[in-house]
Amino acid sequence: MEFHNGSFGRIFKLWLAATLAFLLLLLLVSQGWSPVDMMAASRRQRATTPTGRNSDESNFAGLAELLPKVATDDRTVIITSVNEAFARPGSLLDLFRESFYAGEKINHLLDHVLVVAVDAAAYHHCRRVHPFCYLLQANTSMNLSSASNYMSDAYVELVWAKLELQQRVLQLGYNFLYTDVDIVWLRDPFRHIGVHADMATSSDLYFGDPDDIDRSWPNTGFYYVKATNRTVEMLRRWRAARWRFPRGHEQTIFNHIKHELTAADGDLRVRLQFLDTARFGGFCQLFRNDMEKACTMHANCCVSLGNKLSDLRDVLGQWRNYTVIKPAERKKAQEAGRIFEWRVPAKCGTPDKRAARAPDSDRRAIS
Ligand SMILES: *[C@@H]1O[C@H](CO)[C@@H](O)[C@H](O)[C@H]1NC(C)=O
Ligand SMILES: *[C@@H]1O[C@H](CO)[C@@H](O)[C@H](O)[C@H]1NC(C)=O
Ligand SMILES: *[C@@H]1O[C@H](CO)[C@@H](O)[C@H](O)[C@H]1NC(C)=O
Ligand SMILES: *[C@@H]1O[C@H](CO)[C@@H](O)[C@H](O)[C@H]1NC(C)=O
Repeated sequence: MEFHNGSFGRIFKLWLAATLAFLLLLLLVSQGWSPVDMMAASRRQRATTPTGRNSDESNFAGLAELLPKVATDDRTVIITSVNEAFARPGSLLDLFRESFYAGEKINHLLDHVLVVAVDAAAYHHCRRVHPFCYLLQANTSMNLSSASNYMSDAYVELVWAKLELQQRVLQLGYNFLYTDVDIVWLRDPFRHIGVHADMATSSDLYFGDPDDIDRSWPNTGFYYVKATNRTVEMLRRWRAARWRFPRGHEQTIFNHIKHELTAADGDLRVRLQFLDTARFGGFCQLFRNDMEKACTMHANCCVSLGNKLSDLRDVLGQWRNYTVIKPAERKKAQEAGRIFEWRVPAKCGTPDKRAARAPDSDRRAIS
């Protein structure tokens, strides 16, 4: 090889090249570049195709213009989503909106609710009652109007389209609180979301410790995500994990990957807070919650739209009866040991049936 019989000049050139390369590397590292990050980034890129891709503007036309109108002054937006059956007059969207007026001084929060419609008829219904509606342009060859089958291809596709939209919201710099539309709001949930949390999720199982990642089960019918680079990446990984756990829906998959997202020795270290089921309750739990603590109530573990509507209306009725009692009287009653409890929902199954369900069964079954 040339090197062996090369002149001093050639060796000097090699030395110079090596030194310059070394200096360049030092410069890059001092600017925050890391070879490990580069490798991770290229791995990420491979892992994302086809649907873990970053969400770009072209997918969500008009969203960037709508968000500043609906967000709070600290750039937070409440997102819910509806199909035609949920949005038609007298259905869940009306009840959901009504709950903000029945709730404890939370009607102003309605000004920050973005309703994502998944079909044109739902969008039309939404526009009649609500100022901020957004039509999600999902795969139009699917009929999403009824989305009745919880595990149907159309429904599953929809769930992932909604997550993609949420990722886009974060990328645009907005925090969001996602709420299923079969949840009634009674008190301000933001009072219970820690400033430290990247994500705060309601729970199917909760053991009294908001940091207990191991035992708690998330319920992704209601969760808050703060807009940071790490949470954008979290959403991207959540969506990409779809292909690692076939046939899982987004909530089960989130439960599968919660450890890798939050691990102290992981590369993301998302700070996850589980919300107390005593405040963020649902029909899945045995219905023994103290109304004094309630923030929201979710008609989960309930398989028909008619049953959901009936039992949620009853929840609002109980709530109204409770709130006509003067706070001083309530306090006195409590001091005397009385607890204001919710009734067991009449239509959405008996407590025994609900308790028998596995945590990852059709918790959020709809319609
Ligand atoms: C849309 O959905 C139909 C029916 O499930 C499917 O055949 C088609 O491949 C989908 N198109 C896209 C672009 O995903
Ligand atoms: C979609 O499904 C709903 C309910 O099943 C039905 O009323 C509607 O006509 C369907 N729309 C299309 C475009 O097939
Ligand atoms: C987040 O990512 C963007 C784009 O990659 C970058 O410009 C910004 O500095 C990052 N912010 C933080 C806080 O790391
Ligand atoms: C509210 O109170 C009234 C009067 O006691 C009662 O008749 C009604 O059934 C109550 N409503 C609910 C939903 O509990």
